[in-house]
Amino acid sequence: MALERTFSIIKPDATRRNLTGKVNALLEAGGLRIVAQKRLRLSTAQAEAFYGVHKDRPFFRSLVDFMTSGPIVAQVLEGENAVARNREIMGATNPANAAEGTIRKVFAESIEANSAHGSDSAENAAIEIAFFFSGIDIVG
Ligand code: CMP
Repeated sequence: MALERTFSIIKPDATRRNLTGKVNALLEAGGLRIVAQKRLRLSTAQAEAFYGVHKDRPFFRSLVDFMTSGPIVAQVLEGENAVARNREIMGATNPANAAEGTIRKVFAESIEANSAHGSDSAENAAIEIAFFFSGIDIVG
């Protein structure tokens, strides 16, 4: 398998608790390289657009409120099988179901405040990376 890229967000619950470095340590220990990274605060319109696929879900409004409640760290991660690898390192969406040692098991507060987002496919990774980064921002 060739090198692949995926998109990652360290969410406001984690930045609030100053956990960026600890989350990054798990990503790097898991074999992923952080090839782009920026800390920003999403506007409501930006969060609605990023999570547009969930707009009809009952948790959408609350999710947008949460994702705009504080800074996030948007990242591009690179490595072998990066999409699947990152999902393993993050663990299940609901921290109650996440495996030991995963980001969500170790750090998440709830299914919503679950510390990390990761792309679910290579196709969505490309879309999500382009939402936040230009090619010139990504240094492999
Ligand atoms: P994420 O991987 O960023 O994708 C959608 C987010 O919605 C998810 O992580 C959670 O933070 C949030 N969310 C809140 N409630 C739910 C739910 N019941 N099922 C899935 N995702 C949820």
